[in-house]
Amino acid sequence: MNAQQLVEIIRSRTSASLKQMKAPGPSREEMKLIVEAAAAAPDHGHLHPFRILEIPTDARNDLGELFVKAVEETQATPTEEALTRAREKAHKGPVLLVLVGCFHGSDETRIPKYEQMLSAGTALQNMVLVAHAMGYASRITSGDSARSPAFHKGLGLSENEEFLCFISLGKVDETRPAKGRQEPQELHSTWMPM
Ligand SMILES: Cc1cc2nc3c(=O)[nH]c(=O)nc-3n(C[C@H](O)[C@H](O)[C@H](O)COP(=O)(O)O)c2cc1C
Repeated sequence: MNAQQLVEIIRSRTSASLKQMKAPGPSREEMKLIVEAAAAAPDHGHLHPFRILEIPTDARNDLGELFVKAVEETQATPTEEALTRAREKAHKGPVLLVLVGCFHGSDETRIPKYEQMLSAGTALQNMVLVAHAMGYASRITSGDSARSPAFHKGLGLSENEEFLCFISLGKVDETRPAKGRQEPQELHSTWMPM
């Protein structure tokens, strides 16, 4: 593959609608490659500042109940509709991954958290690009409820860990056009010493 072809893969990735995403998701073998791509993210100090947690199909109801707990934590009197939406959310995307940040504090390392966060971000992009190259659509989501303490605890994250986002992978009939992207000349300039 040449650079132009690689850029074409990168440019043609767009996020899918979760409503339209359907099975199959990546196979076990394909998942191994996706995770290998994540592991190749640049990682200053080799701190391993992220990990990937897969939510299996048979745990989706339990995830739904975690979403419910999170909603109940943030809203005093949630509507039935909000609770139903929370439960349904857990069933979207044939393969559902959680990107977890495993951050090291400044007492342990001189590498700041923002660098570790960037490292996790590059792992995220590596994963969705490899999935895209395999013909899978993806959607990255977060949402307020996912940041609740109940959710953190229910996912089994430790104190130095943070929920970063969900990654849903599956098939779509039609990909969505890219929108809102910067033109290369808008984001690229040359420094002029003052
Ligand atoms: C960490 C992260 C979390 C995101 N969370 C959400 C979300 O909760 N809901 C949403 O609609 N889009 C979310 N997005 C944005 C979409 O996944 C998507 O990237 C954006 O709509 C741009 O579309 P594109 O990927 O097709 O360029 C998130 C993106 C990132 C990187």
